[in-house]
Formats: sequence, structure tokens, C-alpha cells
Amino acid sequence: MAAIIDGKKISAEIRAEIKEETEALKAQGITAGLAVIIVGNDPASEVYVRNKGRACGEVGIYSEIIALPENTSEAELLEKIDALNARREINGILVQLPLPKHINEKAVTARILPEKDVDAFHYENVGRITLGKPRFLPCTPAGVMELLHRSGVEIAGKECVVVGRSNIVGKPMAQLLLGENGTVTICHSKTADVASHTRRSDILVSSVGKAGFITGDMIKKGAVVIDVGINRTPDGKLCGDVDFASVEPLASMITPVPGGVGPMTITMLLKNTLTAAKLQNNTNV
Ligand code: GUN
Repeated sequence: MAAIIDGKKISAEIRAEIKEETEALKAQGITAGLAVIIVGNDPASEVYVRNKGRACGEVGIYSEIIALPENTSEAELLEKIDALNARREINGILVQLPLPKHINEKAVTARILPEKDVDAFHYENVGRITLGKPRFLPCTPAGVMELLHRSGVEIAGKECVVVGRSNIVGKPMAQLLLGENGTVTICHSKTADVASHTRRSDILVSSVGKAGFITGDMIKKGAVVIDVGINRTPDGKLCGDVDFASVEPLASMITPVPGGVGPMTITMLLKNTLTAAKLQNNTNV
């Protein structure tokens, strides 16, 4: 029987800490501010963006949601970013991904001032993470690290296997685990035998986006299993990458979906926005 890592509870604890800090900043006359840009009408993205705005309100962060039509040109989007870069009261800028196909995602993330890049997707911030000098940590991997830390999981010297190599989750996840002295393996769609790697992992992080991809026969007894997947079953139910029924009896700790990693992503965005406000105002309160 695995202990359940309760992302909702841990997230609520961190949000309470963030709220205290935003209030302390306000006492100095500084209100942290976040701008979120969404282009088009992807229903999942619309939900995520709405949740980000609501979460800001709950901890006292000012937020603006800028909804642009699907046919917005790349030049128009870059102009919007330039305008937000120039505004003092906006400390963080996030462009919700994915973008429509006619817009170059890399050009867009590179246009955000690195000190306002609360997603940590800009080349400079990615480079800083690689060099071990981060300004911001990417939200989902940072959320996973918080779950591990606050659950008392030791990382140094452990076999860590990350399944998935996306720029948003897999690659930075591996960097953060390596930064804490884990021995890290990244598996991906061309890995010959994924199970041969996962079977020796003490800490397994799955971010492949396939329901039921990780099954009990792929787990080392006592492993800590972190499920980053957000998938839908054919009948529309939310589920992760991990087949909970067969994995849970073998794991020592496991995150559920929903209620595991999910709530942490927005929490870390709030934290990054607060960090951005402090850095831009030269304050440490
Ligand atoms: N789409 C899915 N995850 C993310 C994220 O972390 N940041 C942004 N900007 N878009 C996303």
C-alpha cells in the first residue's frame, strides 16, 4: 500500500505561504502582477487560463487575461508582448501553449523579457537552469520537486527515471533531479525497452500523455511514483499515465490524478510571479 502524495493539500500550504508574502509586499506598496495571453479557443487551454486568473486572485496577485483570436498574426502577438514587457505593474508574462500552427512558439517565448518569463521557457532561463543558477523554475517540474521535498523523499544518490522528454516537463524535470544529485535516466518514444529502466527506478516521473502507460510490472517495489499525465479515458474521465490499480500496491508513495501534480503547476506559477515582483523591485520581503 502506497502513501498518497496529496497535491491539493501541499498546494494549499504553499499558496498560504505565497499569500502571506504577497501581503507583505503590498505593505511595501508593491502588488505582484501577471499577464496571461491565450490565442484561439482551445477548450483545455481556456480552462487552464481561467484557473490561473482565479488562483492569482485568491493569493492577492493582480492578473490580466488577454484573449486573442485564432487568426492573430505572429507580429501582432509579439507587439502585445512588447507592450507587456514595458509595463511596470506586470511582473510576469505567460503565453499559453500550444499556439496556433502559424505562430512560431520559440520566437514568442524568446520575446518575453527573461526577468518576466515566469514559465522559464526563454533561452536564458533554460540556460540558467542547466548551469545551476536558476531565476525561475519551470512550473510543473518545480511542482514535482516540491511534492518530493515536502513528502520527505531523498533524491541524492537515487535512481530517477523520467519518462518523456518534452521541453515543458521531461527535460527540465531531469535537470532538477540531477541538480539534487539524483542519477537520472530519460526514456522517450525511441527508448528500446522502457520497462528495463523503470524497473530499477527509485523515483519514477511519467509525463508521456498516454493513459495507463505505466503498469505494475514496470515498477520496482517501494518506488516513489509521480504521475504528470493528464489524459482522458474514452468515457471522458480524467486519468494519468500510471495504471493506479496495478502500480499503487507496489509503490511506497504515489500521486493521484486528479489531485497530485496538477494543482502544483499553478501554485509554482504564483510563486514565480512573486519572485519576479521581488526581483524587479529589488526587495526580499
Ligand atoms: N501548456 C501546457 N502547459 C503549459 C505551461 O506550463 N505553460 C504554458 N505557457 N503553456 C502550457
